[in-house]
Amino acid sequence: MRVVEVTAYGGPEVLRMARRPEPEAGDVPGRVRVRLRAAGVNQADLRIRAGRYPGHVGDLKPPFVLGTDFAGTLMDPAPGMPAGTRVAGFVPWFDELTGEGTYAEVLRAAPEWLAPIPDDVDYTVAASVPLASATAQQGLDRLALPEGSTLLVTGASGVVGRLAVQYAAAAGVRVVAVAHEGDESELKLLGAEHSIERGTPEDVVARVVAAVPERVDAVFDGAFHSAPALAAVKDGGAFIALAADRTPTAERNIRVETVRGRPDAARLKETLEKVAARELITRVADVMPLEEVAEAHRRAEAGHRPGRIILMI
Ligand SMILES: NC(=O)c1ccc[n+]([C@@H]2O[C@H](COP(=O)([O-])OP(=O)(O)OC[C@H]3O[C@@H](n4cnc5c(N)ncnc54)[C@H](OP(=O)(O)O)[C@@H]3O)[C@@H](O)[C@H]2O)c1
Repeated sequence: MRVVEVTAYGGPEVLRMARRPEPEAGDVPGRVRVRLRAAGVNQADLRIRAGRYPGHVGDLKPPFVLGTDFAGTLMDPAPGMPAGTRVAGFVPWFDELTGEGTYAEVLRAAPEWLAPIPDDVDYTVAASVPLASATAQQGLDRLALPEGSTLLVTGASGVVGRLAVQYAAAAGVRVVAVAHEGDESELKLLGAEHSIERGTPEDVVARVVAAVPERVDAVFDGAFHSAPALAAVKDGGAFIALAADRTPTAERNIRVETVRGRPDAARLKETLEKVAARELITRVADVMPLEEVAEAHRRAEAGHRPGRIILMI
C-alpha cells in the first residue's frame, strides 16, 4: 500500500511516498482494517515531523507514518458495523507510538476509535472532526463551566477553537472568541457573544478586558498563548492548555490543566450527526492528494488559512 513516511526529522521535504505491505485481516488481534479515503493534517504532525516532540515519541525513530484523523470504509466488521461501513476516527498517536498513522491507504484501527459517518457527510469533512471535537469537548468537560459563565477561546478560527466556541455556546456559556480577520461575524453566528481581533497575547487580554471588564471565568487556549493569557482570567478561574509545553504555571488560584484528546466513539457519532444536521460547523481549508503531502505541510506551517487541510487517499 502507499504510505507517506517521515524519513528523518526535518522540513516538509523529509516526507516521502513509500510502499509498505498491506495489513492482513486479524494480523493484530482486536484491530480492524479501514481503507482510508481522507486524513487530516494536524499541527502536531508538523511538530513531530520537525523533531520538536522528542520527549513524546519514545523510542520511535524514522521512518514512520504520521497522521491521526481519518475517514474511510471498514474492511473488516467491527461491533455493530459491518464491513463497508463508512467510518471516521482518530489514532491516539502518542499513546500508540507504533508509527502507523493515517497518511496511508490502510489503517489498523481499534473499534473503539470508530464512529459511522452519516450519509450527508463526505470523507473530507468527516476527517476534519474527530481529534478536534474530542479535544474541544474534553477540554470543556474539564472546565465544567456553569451556564452564564464567561469563556475566552483563543485560536477560535482554528478547527478546535471553532468547535469549542460552538459547544460552549450551546451549553449556555458566554464566549469571547479570538478571531482571524474577517471571521468575527461568522464566530458570532456560531454562538460567540464577543468576537475580538487576534493579536499578541497582551493585545488579546486588553481586548478581553474591554469587552468583559471583570475578566473571564476561564480560557480555552487554542492559539497556545499560554502564560500571558492568564491575565484575562479572574482570580480562582480556570485555564485549559492544549499542549504540555504551552501550559502556564498556575497563579491567583487559577486552575490550570492540560487536555489531550482521547477517542470517544459514542460522542464522535453524535458529533458527526450534528455536522450532518448542520448543527455544528467545521471547516476544511484545502483538499489535496496524498502525494502533495509536503505542500500540505508547508501550507499548514504557514498558517493564516483557517480550517483543516485534508489529504485525499
Ligand atoms: N491536546 C490535544 O489533544 C490537541 C488536539 C488537537 C490540537 N491540538 C493543538 O491545539 C492547537 C489548535 O489546533 P487546531 O487543530 O485548531 O489548529 P489550527 O486549525 O491551526 O488552529 C489554530 C488557530 O490558532 C491561531 N493562532 C496560532 N498562533 C496564534 C497566535 N500567536 N496569535 C493568534 N492566533 C494564533 C491560528 O492562526 P494562524 O493559522 O493564522 O496562525 C489558527 O487559527 C494546535 O496547536 C494543535 O496542535 C491539541
